[in-house]
Amino acid sequence: MRLRSFRSGSFILKFGTFLLFIELFYVIHLIISNIVWTDMDGNILFLMLNKEHRIDRFLKSYEGDCEISLRKQNLRKNTTLCDCLPSVTEHKITINTARTPTWNEIANKYNKTLSSKGEYKPNDCEPLQSVAIIIPYMKRDSHLKILINHLHFILPRQKIHYRIFVIEQNSPSIFNKAAIMNIGFVEAGKLFNFTCSIFHDVDMLAEDGRNMYNCLYSPRHIGSHVNKYGYRLFYNELIGGALAITPKHFRRVNGYSTSFYGWGGEDDDMKNRLSAQSLKITRFPKEISRFTMLKHEQDKHNPTNKFRRSAVDTRKLVYEKDGLNSLNYSIVETRERSLFTLIKANLYISQHNQFNKIKGSCKETRYFLTKSISTDSIEDCSILCYNDQRCLSFDFYANYCRKHFKPCVIEDSNKENRYVYDKKEKSKYLKYFIYEQIDTFTCVQNRMETFGL
Ligand code: UDP
Ligand code: BGC
Ligand code: MN
Repeated sequence: MRLRSFRSGSFILKFGTFLLFIELFYVIHLIISNIVWTDMDGNILFLMLNKEHRIDRFLKSYEGDCEISLRKQNLRKNTTLCDCLPSVTEHKITINTARTPTWNEIANKYNKTLSSKGEYKPNDCEPLQSVAIIIPYMKRDSHLKILINHLHFILPRQKIHYRIFVIEQNSPSIFNKAAIMNIGFVEAGKLFNFTCSIFHDVDMLAEDGRNMYNCLYSPRHIGSHVNKYGYRLFYNELIGGALAITPKHFRRVNGYSTSFYGWGGEDDDMKNRLSAQSLKITRFPKEISRFTMLKHEQDKHNPTNKFRRSAVDTRKLVYEKDGLNSLNYSIVETRERSLFTLIKANLYISQHNQFNKIKGSCKETRYFLTKSISTDSIEDCSILCYNDQRCLSFDFYANYCRKHFKPCVIEDSNKENRYVYDKKEKSKYLKYFIYEQIDTFTCVQNRMETFGL
């Protein structure tokens, strides 16, 4: 008997301890789950409240933020404004890519919904913004059909005023997505008085109807959680895929760079431009900003830009000269199709010998640098080296070294060439500025030792 009562006492004790633990976990959970996580810039990444509460709070914080254009408008009395917050209740969108619809099928489906060609305007409320959706495009016919079908399905439900522009690169053969997006911005502006621009890849499909296609005070990375990256933000600085930005902000950063031919980098460069103007990026919660990227191989006419990293590092130094104001193009055709406006363009922007390191204007640049030592800053140098990617990559290494050691010397692998990078010692920098491809390099901390000075 005694033994039994002892055992049941121990059981009660254990059970009590167990309950205590559960309570403790619950309290810890409550504390942790109310933490607000922010990124380095102080942007809210996610509020760890319970899921619904979190999304709700995030969206509330955004209320009023998209009323940008309204402040200037004189609204008639008794006007019903369209919702700025998503009001779609059926927000999960099934994405079925098994079959590509034909243009006729899509047109028949949406002809009655659209207010005019490629454009929709709600008629039961006053829209807050007019949105230009700008799609850079080259030889992706099936993706275009799927996207246009998708957009005209989700966007009227959001009760926004939008018009779709597809900007097709006609020539040259290597794709320059960023320049094409700039052209879209300029040309759409001639046809449509928009207060929000959305730069949208042709293969990106929103999975959640609550992901509003409109602009906030800060540029918004709409397509931040993509299936291709397991619905994670691939890296903190990423803004590619789909970006909403007001024309005012876009002009302020001089649009995208025009010098990125081939795949990659142009979006990272845009992030630098925005940061330089203290424009922070916002993103919707991961449940809402989910996107499917249609599967595809890398396009032949869009080879990876091997110089993109060094270019990203140096382009930001010259963004005031490279962008909307350095566009050089001609319009081949502008056609108002029933589902979108097609703008076809030829680009006349130098390819900077990115794919041919041997040929090019290296000699001229070198001549300029050695004869005109008056160049007085590294920034100037990168402008002068505009046509020489080797110079850009040199700059990249120099900047990399500079971050670690000051002053900085870069040696190439044979220790034959040494480069001084020190803003204060410009002349030395130029003296050792020899046009050699640096394959491997080391940063040498002590310049004195290296030069025996
Ligand atoms: N693009 C295009 N044709 C091409 C290459 C790119 O239309 O040959 C456009 C298209 O809008 C595409 C975007 O540029 O979605 C980004 O290119 P890609 O999809 O290759 O890059 P990813 O984001 O998949 O790395
Ligand atoms: C490229 C970006 C691209 C990202 C994600 C980076 O290396 O520079 O242009 O969006 O990768 O694919
Ligand atoms: Mn893609």
